[in-house]
Amino acid sequence: MLEIKGLRASVGAKEILTGIDLTVPDGEIHAVMGPNGAGKSTLSYILSGRDGYEVTGGAVSFDGADLLVMAPEARAAAGIFLAFQYPIELPGVGNANFIRTAVNAVRRARGETEMDTVTFLKEARNAVKALAMPDDMLKRNVNVGFSGGEKKRNEILQMTLLKPKLALLDETDSGLDIDALRIVAGGVNAARGPKFSALVITHYQRLLDYITPDRVHVLAAGRIVRSGGPELAVELEQHGYGGLEAA
Ligand SMILES: Nc1ncnc2c1ncn2[C@@H]1O[C@H](COP(=O)(O)OP(=O)(O)O)[C@@H](O)[C@H]1O
Ligand SMILES: [Mg+2]
Repeated sequence: MLEIKGLRASVGAKEILTGIDLTVPDGEIHAVMGPNGAGKSTLSYILSGRDGYEVTGGAVSFDGADLLVMAPEARAAAGIFLAFQYPIELPGVGNANFIRTAVNAVRRARGETEMDTVTFLKEARNAVKALAMPDDMLKRNVNVGFSGGEKKRNEILQMTLLKPKLALLDETDSGLDIDALRIVAGGVNAARGPKFSALVITHYQRLLDYITPDRVHVLAAGRIVRSGGPELAVELEQHGYGGLEAA
């Protein structure tokens, strides 16, 4: 379970998160919507431990542990995964090697045995097939020359193989055509279970047609201004964010 209480954060002199309260129980998928610049990506970076953000108040616990004092790799070992809004290219780093190294680093940190190459590649090939990715995608360098949609699918491939307890998906649907959207949503739905939860950051209700969220939250000007059921996303699609902050 993820519990965020009164989280405030700044970059330099600029306060971006102004008091976030949000709880995601195990097994639930919550959507986070909200205008550009609201602080959605910042929230996902702070949860995953990216440098450059100063937490100025509040607390975050994950499975009862104080998340904010943990190193990024400790958070990954605890089961947190971030799918980047803008996945970066890693020339010279093979995709399969990259993901297998991450999988085994997490397994080692948990005191589990490493996965051998044959077992890993078998799982990886199955996941690639399920995500309708081209066959050579595991052999290529991470994200190099991938189309926008392929990069997003590659994030979901990593998620599928890392099997996180909490996935933070930052606009994984943006830039996807309708078939890719369905495939990506299928990847998330396949991960559903009592020990999987997710924060799905999105601008579009259409993703939520495929991934039915347990809760929908609206983040505006650095805090959650409204929460509701899936119907809230439909309402936002119709009326926009105008007037929400006053509400
Ligand atoms: N490293 C940074 N330096 C300065 N401003 C930043 C930095 N990161 C984010 N911001 C600002 O914080 C605000 C929130 O950004 P972001 O979290 O990316 O919003 P969202 O993902 O909701 O569109 C924006 O105004 C953005 O310009
Ligand atoms: Mg963003």
